[in-house]
Amino acid sequence: MVNLQTQLGHYHFANVFMNASGVHCMTTQELDEVAASGAGTLVTKTGTLEARAGNPEPRFAPLQLGTINSMGLPNQGIDYYLDYAIAFQAKHPEQPIFLSVAGMKPEDFPVLAQKIEDSAFTGLTEFNLSCPNVPGKPQIAYDFDTTRNILQAIFAIFTKPAGVKLPPYFDLAQFDEVAAILNDFPLQFINSINSLGNGLFIDPATDTVLIKPKGGFGGIGGQYAKPIALANVRAFRQRLRPEIAIIGTGGVTTGRDAYELILCGASLVSVGSILATEGIGVFDRLSQELTAEMAAKGKNTIADFQGQLKTL
Ligand SMILES: Cc1cc2nc3c(=O)[nH]c(=O)nc-3n(C[C@H](O)[C@H](O)[C@H](O)COP(=O)(O)O)c2cc1C
Repeated sequence: MVNLQTQLGHYHFANVFMNASGVHCMTTQELDEVAASGAGTLVTKTGTLEARAGNPEPRFAPLQLGTINSMGLPNQGIDYYLDYAIAFQAKHPEQPIFLSVAGMKPEDFPVLAQKIEDSAFTGLTEFNLSCPNVPGKPQIAYDFDTTRNILQAIFAIFTKPAGVKLPPYFDLAQFDEVAAILNDFPLQFINSINSLGNGLFIDPATDTVLIKPKGGFGGIGGQYAKPIALANVRAFRQRLRPEIAIIGTGGVTTGRDAYELILCGASLVSVGSILATEGIGVFDRLSQELTAEMAAKGKNTIADFQGQLKTL
């Protein structure tokens, strides 16, 4: 019998699938819909200290093989998501969930950490170091000194289970450098990858960009991102302390895609673009397809193939 159960630290999940932050998780209604779906867990929209309206519309467009977006972190603010998470855990003590948060400046991170530390939240916190879509704000995790400083500030305060959402890296030397930083902190997990930052799509009929913010530049997700996501998960699995789990994100549209992220070392698999375009039923389809793939390969559990990518 194929079993899709997984675990991250001492947290157990009914299956490996979850939404990617930013997709179907802006409001309590959307969060409840993910919770009621076939997903194994959920993550909130990235919450900032204050609520944000985000960038002007249109700021999201579906593409042939994925999506482009420059949302600019619209969200209801940390208190909204923290309240939701605390209410959720009271109702569903056996279903741990993830709270995603980000600072608009480095100094916000310890403030967010303190707020969560002082709260009744018992789930996992994902510090998002990788939003590519806020005009004038670089992606933090491309600045290694700032990344280390933020992690130092967070872990000076924070004792609850925490992870970081990372942008894609493209150079093996970067993986070495980032992993060396991450290994110095008591992280439970990383989530890799955020969107491919600052891609550009052009409408062939009108010679016009597809989204309004930043002259059309936006984060790319979906099938375009899959090989980069596989490489990032694989590269970090080879470099991180084994206790740091990986949530694999990027380019999942089929059960086979999820299988490959797990082969590269992922413990959970999150889906963004395909959830945005296909809707909440995607979780049942992905679970069925992953089950079929595992059965075809003679794998009964996630542990039977996790991290077991073969090389030549
Ligand atoms: C509309 C949209 C909004 C997003 N907002 C966030 C966000 O608030 N926080 C975050 O960490 N990632 C955000 N992301 C990135 C996704 O979580 C994910 O990392 C990325 O889309 C790659 O996964 P995919 O290939 O399945 O789309 C967003 C993506 C999309 C499409």
